[in-house]
Parts: sequence; structure tokens; C-alpha cells
Amino acid sequence: MNLEIRVEREAESLLVRNRKRVGRHVFTTPSDSEYRHQWLWDSCFHAIALRHFDPEMAEAELLSIVASQHRNGMVPHESKHTVFNIPVPYTSTVTQPPFIARAALDVYAISGNNVFLSQMFPSMHRYHQWLANKRELAGVINVVSPLESGEDNSLPWDSKVLFPLRKAYGFVAAHVPLMPNLTGLRSVTVTAIYADALSAMAEIAGILGDEGLAAHYIKKNKEVVEAMRREFRQEDGLFYHKDSDGSPVRHLTHAIFSPLFAGALSNEEVEQLVKEHLLNPGEFWTPYPIPTVAKSEPKFSPTAYWRGPTWVNMNWMHRRGLLRYGFRNEADQLLQKTTAAIGKNGFREYYNPLTGEGLGARNFGWSTLVIDMMKA
Ligand code: GLC
Repeated sequence: MNLEIRVEREAESLLVRNRKRVGRHVFTTPSDSEYRHQWLWDSCFHAIALRHFDPEMAEAELLSIVASQHRNGMVPHESKHTVFNIPVPYTSTVTQPPFIARAALDVYAISGNNVFLSQMFPSMHRYHQWLANKRELAGVINVVSPLESGEDNSLPWDSKVLFPLRKAYGFVAAHVPLMPNLTGLRSVTVTAIYADALSAMAEIAGILGDEGLAAHYIKKNKEVVEAMRREFRQEDGLFYHKDSDGSPVRHLTHAIFSPLFAGALSNEEVEQLVKEHLLNPGEFWTPYPIPTVAKSEPKFSPTAYWRGPTWVNMNWMHRRGLLRYGFRNEADQLLQKTTAAIGKNGFREYYNPLTGEGLGARNFGWSTLVIDMMKA
């Protein structure tokens, strides 16, 4: 059987197998062996893949996320729904990269279901207001815990400030109500995702006929993209995260490509970035790209969590960024190598960028995003 067709069939059956129902929640677990609850960005990615097989289930997955929204508008990064099989509405105190609006718009692009969009919109609007009030710092997103970045073991958290207590404290505070979050990272990737979400919100408001909010989100998107350039771009033209003390964290990570997803670069800047860094075999063009950390970084590890391995969700995002700027050939090579790693090793949590070996959890939900990559 042709590789693409096999991967597509396996993706569909994985998404059905990982499905769970708890009370009013219907969702997909990231992996039934290791992650049995619901996670925010995982569910967004599941919905984006699921829309190709079962748009109604994709809608249910997103409605389930917003059903866990806190009263103040925050959408928690993790919702347990059960503890020791007893239904308990336990949710965490931090959020995760805000992919909800993009996922809702993508699902709508297939279903054309305005009722679903109007069910989602009020919660999504409150969530984006909360993000603007509680997470924007100097116009960009300041994540307050490693868990909130989604890349909880990534190099930028190894900063001089409070290291190594910083990661440990962040983990605990994310799960214990009323513990203050003492750390922070102005994240290029999360800000790029936020900027994209604002433009998705503008489009959704327009579809629902709310011209006032559509204009608000268009303006907000423009402001965030400008802030990204102002805050993150350094003399070498690359965008680096900023630490809690405001200093750039100069590790070469896949985050340097995140501005493409937000449309924050000029065509010439993208051309240079692709040529010098993406297609550079000594940095990011490894046999199974894109490593989360450049091969040239002293701390690069091909197997350590978020410290080198290739993740399908990030490849999905960077492929969209490349396509936005017309880099079809590079985007297709990325797809082909991602499909090859999955074809050989199944849907794993992450992959060794040098050998393609599958690592971490098995039957991992968001790696089915490769299906969405195939369709665009
Ligand atoms: C890990 C990942 C996080 C993901 C979660 C569930 O904590 O770092 O990004 O959401 O697992 O898959």
C-alpha cells in the first residue's frame, strides 16, 4: 500500500482509539499509555487532524476544551476530568499556546458550520481578552511557566535566573492553585501563535457578522506583529526569546522560524533565514528535520525532550509558515521527511532528527497532524 494512504488509515484509527468520554467531555487523549487527560494545544491539533475524518468529533474536541474555561477567561493547559476514575473537574492554573481560534477556523473551513463557530466565539473572545490582560508584556506573550510554553524542557528555561529551581517551581505552581508564578519567558513561538490566533479571531468575527470585533482583532494582530519585531529581533536578524529580566536568550532553536507563521518577516528576510539556517545541514536541515534545537548548539541532544528531537506539531506549524511565503519545495521536503519518519516508526511523541527513530509516548495524537500537512 502506498505510504501516504497507510499513514492516513493509521492516523484515523489512532484518533478513534484514543477517544474518551467523561461526562459532557468528548476528547482525544494524547496517548493512552502516558497522557490520559485532556491538554489544550494537543486537543487543538487533534481537531485539526480529525476534521479530515470526522468534523463533528473535531468540533466536540474544541467544545470540550472551552467547557473547562475558568471564570476569569483562562483556558487551562490540562484538564483531568477524572482522578482515579472518579469524575473530578480538576484543571491546571496555567494555559498553553493559544491555538483554539486557528483550530476552530480550520474545522469550520471543512464543516461550514456557523452554529459551531457561534458556540465557540464568546469563550474564545473572553480567552483572548484574558491573554491580552494577563500575558501580554511589552506587546508580546510572556509565558509564566515552562508548561505554559508547551515546550517544557526547552533550552530557554535553563537561564541563569533561578536555574535549576526555575523549572521545578514552574511545574509545581502550574498545578497548585494560589501558588504565584514566579518565572517568565517572552516567547517568540507563543507570540507567533497568538498573532495568528488574533487574525483567525478577526476572520471568525467577520463570518459571524460582528464587524466591530473583526476590526478590533485586525488591529490587535497588527500591533502584536509589530511588537514581535521590536522585542525579539536582534542584530543578526534572528528572533530570540527574552528572559524574565528582558535579556535575549540566544540559543539557536526552531523558534527562529516561528515568525513565518505570524507573517512577521519580509520576503527577503525569509529567503535569508531559509538559506542560511533551515537548509543548513549543520543546523536545522538534519536527515529528519526540523530539530527543536540546532545541531550546532552545544546543548543539542537528538533524544532529550524538547532539546533537539523533531516534533510533528512544530513541523506542521513551520510548514504553514513556509507555505505562507511561497516556499513550496522546502515545505514539501519537510512533509516528505516527516511522513517517512512516521511510516518507519509509527506515531510517536517525537523523533530523533538524525536517524528518524521514534521516541517518547506511542500512538501519540498530534503526530497525526501529518495528515493535515498532506492536504495543504
Ligand atoms: C508534555 C508536552 C506538552 C504536551 C503534553 C501532553 O507535557 O511537553 O507540550 O501538551 O505533554 O502531550
